[in-house]
Amino acid sequence: MAVDGHSSCGKSTLAKDVAKHFCYKYIDTGAMYRAVTLYVIENNLYDGKKINEEALKKDLDEGKIKIDFRYNPELKKPETYLNEKNVEKKIRGIEVSNLVSPVAVIPFVRRELVDLQREMGKEGGIVMDGRDIGTNVFPDADLKIFLTADAEVRAQRRYDELKAKGEDVNFEEIFKNVKERDYIDSHRETNPLRQAEDAILINNSNISIKEQSEIVIELAEKILNKSK
Ligand code: DC
Repeated sequence: MAVDGHSSCGKSTLAKDVAKHFCYKYIDTGAMYRAVTLYVIENNLYDGKKINEEALKKDLDEGKIKIDFRYNPELKKPETYLNEKNVEKKIRGIEVSNLVSPVAVIPFVRRELVDLQREMGKEGGIVMDGRDIGTNVFPDADLKIFLTADAEVRAQRRYDELKAKGEDVNFEEIFKNVKERDYIDSHRETNPLRQAEDAILINNSNISIKEQSEIVIELAEKILNKSK
């Protein structure tokens, strides 16, 4: 099953919920782009202006960037590993968040990660979330969801989340950032964010997390029953 959609609209919450319900594996493809970005930062492949694409390509080709997910039984969730190190916390930080978009537009990075995603999903029984899963990674997925919410609603959720963490935030700035990310994600040359023709659109501006999971689980159950 593929879950694509805009930034900050709860894709991973939905994907995790549905994976748990069916005992499927959950793969967060955004975390993979974030892990490559962390590698770039930690190996000085970014000088503050430009990413050293030549060196990055060499390291990818030589297999020096290994990404995998391992289940943490205490937290009951999968965590991201980069070269055998748990990087789950680091990849969510501001430094990685600020550089991940330019890393995710590099065509050879996308090629490499898409190959890895296809390998991870080849046995089925998987829920994968991202931007290009239904259109490019698994165009034959049994169920495709395209999740969105109004930009203002997404900005408000992000604002509330950061405020709850005690961060000093400005709503207008976050709103602007949400709109900018939408633009970059949907206008890049390689595999831009777009709704697959056979994807089901869900706008969750006015529905709860529980309601959206119930809708998707019901859809998935119908498909599973049909294939029995
Ligand atoms: O979902 P996220 O915010 O963790 O994604 C991080 C970045 O990676 C975001 O800029 C979009 C990009 N991304 C992508 O281009 N393709 C994917 N399949 C997943 C994420």
